[in-house]
Formats: sequence, C-alpha cells, structure tokens
Amino acid sequence: MNKKKIIVTGSCGFIGFHVCKCLIENNFKVIGIDNLDNYYDVKIKIRRLNLLRKDANFKFYKKSILDRSLNKLVSKIKPNLIINLAAQPGVRYSFKNPQKYIDTNIKGFLNILEIMKDNKINKLIYASSSSVYGNSKKFPSRESMPLKPENLYGLTKIFNEDMAKFYSQKFLISSVGLRFFTVYGKLGRPDMFIPKVINNMKKGKIIDLYNNGNHHRDFTYVDDISSVINDIANNLLKSRKSNHEVFNLCYGNTVKIGKVIREVSKNLNIKPNIRNKKFQLGDMYKTYGSNRKISKKYKFKNLIDITRGLKEVIDYD
Ligand SMILES: NC(=O)c1ccc[n+]([C@@H]2O[C@H](COP(=O)([O-])OP(=O)(O)OC[C@H]3O[C@@H](n4cnc5c(N)ncnc54)[C@H](O)[C@@H]3O)[C@@H](O)[C@H]2O)c1
Repeated sequence: MNKKKIIVTGSCGFIGFHVCKCLIENNFKVIGIDNLDNYYDVKIKIRRLNLLRKDANFKFYKKSILDRSLNKLVSKIKPNLIINLAAQPGVRYSFKNPQKYIDTNIKGFLNILEIMKDNKINKLIYASSSSVYGNSKKFPSRESMPLKPENLYGLTKIFNEDMAKFYSQKFLISSVGLRFFTVYGKLGRPDMFIPKVINNMKKGKIIDLYNNGNHHRDFTYVDDISSVINDIANNLLKSRKSNHEVFNLCYGNTVKIGKVIREVSKNLNIKPNIRNKKFQLGDMYKTYGSNRKISKKYKFKNLIDITRGLKEVIDYD
C-alpha cells in the first residue's frame, strides 16, 4: 500500500523535528519544509535535519512559507495533509521585532491556506499557543474561555485560529489547531527556559529568574505532543467531514519554575547560580491548561511528568 504523504513546515524546528520523526516511525512519507531561520542557532536545526535525513521516508526542501513558489512544489508533491509548525515563536522577541510575527505567522500562514485551496488539499493541523489566554485568573484554562493575549505573538495565534476556521467554512479545508503549553524535550529550543537552565548550569553561568521565579508553567513533553499529532493525522485522513476544531495540548498541571531548577540541579549535581530579575513585559504569570477536550477525542494518557521528562532530556544531552 502507498504511504500517505504529509508536509511538515518548520521541520527543522524543535517540535517539527519530533513530529517528523514520529510520523516516519508511524509509516508516513514526510516532506519537511523549513527556511532555517536564524532566530536561534542554526547549528541545532542542521543537527535535527541530519537526523531526519537518515530515513528514506523523509525529504527536505529549504524554503520559506512566505514563498509563492511553494505552490508549485506542493502541487508536485500532492500531500494528503499539511502540518504547519513553521512560525516566529517567542514572547519577548515580539516586542523587539513585531513585523516578523506578522510576516511569518500571518502572511506565511495565509500563503499555506491559499496553496491548500489552490491545490485542493483539504486537511490541516497547525500550531496555536497557550499565549492566546494571556493572564487569566481562572484555571485550568479551557478552550471556551475568553482570549486576552499579553503579546503580539499570542495575537497572531488567535488570528491563525480565525483564518483556519474561515477557510474551513468557505473552502472546506478541515483543520485542527493545537494550543501547545510550554513544550520541552530533547534537542530543545535554546531560547527557552529549560534548555537555558540546563546549559547555563552545566557551564557554571548565571541563570536569570524573571519575576523572582514566581512563574508557573504547564510543562508538556514533546513526545506526548508528537504522538497526539500522529493520532490526529490518522483521524483527519479518515474523516470525510469538513470541520475546524481547536484543542489545548498540555500536561494538565502546573509547576513553579523553581522546581525545574531544583530537579535539574539534582540531576546534574551542580549548584545553580541564580540572578533574580523583574517581571518582563508580555510574560504570563501562570499557565495551566485543561486537556479534557482533547483527551475525549484522541489517545491521550500516561503523559510524561516533569521529573521523568527532565531526566530524559539531561541523559540525552
Ligand atoms: N515550543 C513551545 O513551547 C511552543 C508553545 C506554544 C506554541 N508553539 C508553536 O509551535 C510551533 C513550533 O514551535 P517550535 O518551538 O518548534 O519553534 P522553532 O523555532 O524551533 O521551530 C519553528 C521552525 O520554523 C522555521 N521557520 C520560521 N520561519 C519560517 C518561514 N518563513 N518559512 C519556513 N520555515 C520557517 C524555523 O526555521 C524553525 O525551524 C510554532 O508555531 C510555535 O509558535 C511552541
């Protein structure tokens, strides 16, 4: 039987890499697209790419999702499904370079939707974010709650959800939007808290703790994210309905970030060197999601907790 073809944009990124790996292991043919953007060290993206390239069921194209010529490539590939994980991520950077968020997250996403419409590809999974909730007072955050983002990044994700819904209603593109909550795992993003803590502790460098460490996060292990995406992909490929749905994708608990530092310190047997810093504009005090909606529809159990997840990441490094 012919393998189904899935295009994954942002394939050299942190989540994209793990999703590609998981889809290949689950018998899909995966076509990765990434422009190897230099928002963080490109070496880690090349490392991920080289690991993916070891498998004959993975093909890669260095291209931007903003590039109109992507249309020709997609029409040649004729994928059964597109997973859009290419984006400009990061909260603090959205205050420095807002234009990049509009370009990649809005114009790039629009290009993907238009290419799908032109080529009659009608199944899409895309990344949203817990940033859409902002600083709400009620927890756990549920999909039905009001959205009040604290930064432009979160705003672009809300617009992505609206765009996907519009294209599903008008052009019958079935889509699933996933609000990821602080994802961590092997070969993680060097601009994020957990990789920074591990790297700085190993090198004896200072670890900056914003808001004096009074932040809570719903840390979600990347392998849990990729296995749910694999399940959603299988489900979407079988479905004949045109629909648009949005789900939280989270561990479903919250951890004070001081606990992360203690666990990393215990695993590495190194004393941390901490510098307290004030609250940063656009940050969220706490994230804590409910995964009730997604767990009713998709395989979602035995999630990896922070203690086990951190150990796996540190042992891999
Ligand atoms: N990591 C998290 O905790 C988290 C949380 C919530 C949402 N998300 C979302 O998940 C998705 C993946 O995030 P990630 O953590 O893997 O980030 P990442 O930066 O590691 O991956 C994004 C990838 O997209 C690529 N890219 C950027 N602009 C591009 C363009 N114009 N064309 C093609 N490729 C482009 C980058 O080179 C990168 O490899 C993003 O949409 C992000 O907003 C991530």
